[in-house]
Amino acid sequence: MSSPEPPPGPPSGPPGGELAGRVALVTGAARGQGRAITELFVAAGARVIAGDVLAEIKELADELPDAVHAVHLDVTDTASWQRAAAAGTDRFGRLDVLVNNAGVLRRAPLAEETAEGFEQLWRVNCLGAYLGLQTCLPHLRRVPAPSVINTLSTAALAAWEHHAAYASSKWALRGLTKVAALELAADGIRVNAIVPGPVLTPMVLRADDPDAERRLSATPLGRAGRPADIAELALFLAGDRSSYITGAEIVADGGQTAGVARPRRASRPEVSR
Ligand SMILES: NC(=O)c1ccc[n+]([C@@H]2O[C@H](COP(=O)([O-])OP(=O)(O)OC[C@H]3O[C@@H](n4cnc5c(N)ncnc54)[C@H](O)[C@@H]3O)[C@@H](O)[C@H]2O)c1
Repeated sequence: MSSPEPPPGPPSGPPGGELAGRVALVTGAARGQGRAITELFVAAGARVIAGDVLAEIKELADELPDAVHAVHLDVTDTASWQRAAAAGTDRFGRLDVLVNNAGVLRRAPLAEETAEGFEQLWRVNCLGAYLGLQTCLPHLRRVPAPSVINTLSTAALAAWEHHAAYASSKWALRGLTKVAALELAADGIRVNAIVPGPVLTPMVLRADDPDAERRLSATPLGRAGRPADIAELALFLAGDRSSYITGAEIVADGGQTAGVARPRRASRPEVSR
């Protein structure tokens, strides 16, 4: 009698990591979540075209010279997108993943918001992702498993007062994500969104707000997010483990939007034996 088939082992990824051989373009990569995404993608075998308006973007390429191509990229500018995509794909030969991560936050009561401030924020947070998608589309159409990841915010699920420009830009990006998922599915291009809750990055950890970390840690899980938490989600959406997922919004917020939590106990209760 022949012995039974051994149980299948864990799925084996491509040699060298789950993004081996792939090229990603990450915007806003100089710091915060974009930097963490870039570093994790490289650890997973990808090469990354890392774009930002900050000069610090060069540091990433200095640290990871074989895997990172740093470009000055202003996501609000079509010509800047074209230069960045051309330079990156000339160097790495292809583009498999686009991560529209760049974003700016602006707090202002409705009555004090200005047309200029509102429009400038929208140009980064919403128009920027649209320009990126349009610029990168010809490259994404040429690869077997393309993936686009847009970064929303829990402000795209429920309103935040004093954030009219920010919240509305992220709601709009949410809509863009859905439209792109429908339109590009026929090309095999998956388009999904990450929805971070509070994450400890320079966007929220400002010198003029020393209480931010404590305040942002008030989630049901009892802590704020780390850039690496968001990078793990981006890695999942970039690679083949999420191959049946498109048009989705995946929330990583420590439970903040799950509902109303009871006050958190300081420590776990004593267990009587
Ligand atoms: N930190 C949070 O709590 C949080 C929560 C929800 C969503 N988000 C979103 O996550 C994304 C990343 O934010 P972060 O927390 O890492 O912030 P961050 O401020 O640390 O990083 C944002 C990066 O975007 C870059 N950028 C800004 N304008 C740009 C432009 N015109 N062109 C190219 N790059 C530009 C900045 O220079 C910066 O490097 C943003 O879209 C943000 O809205 C952040």
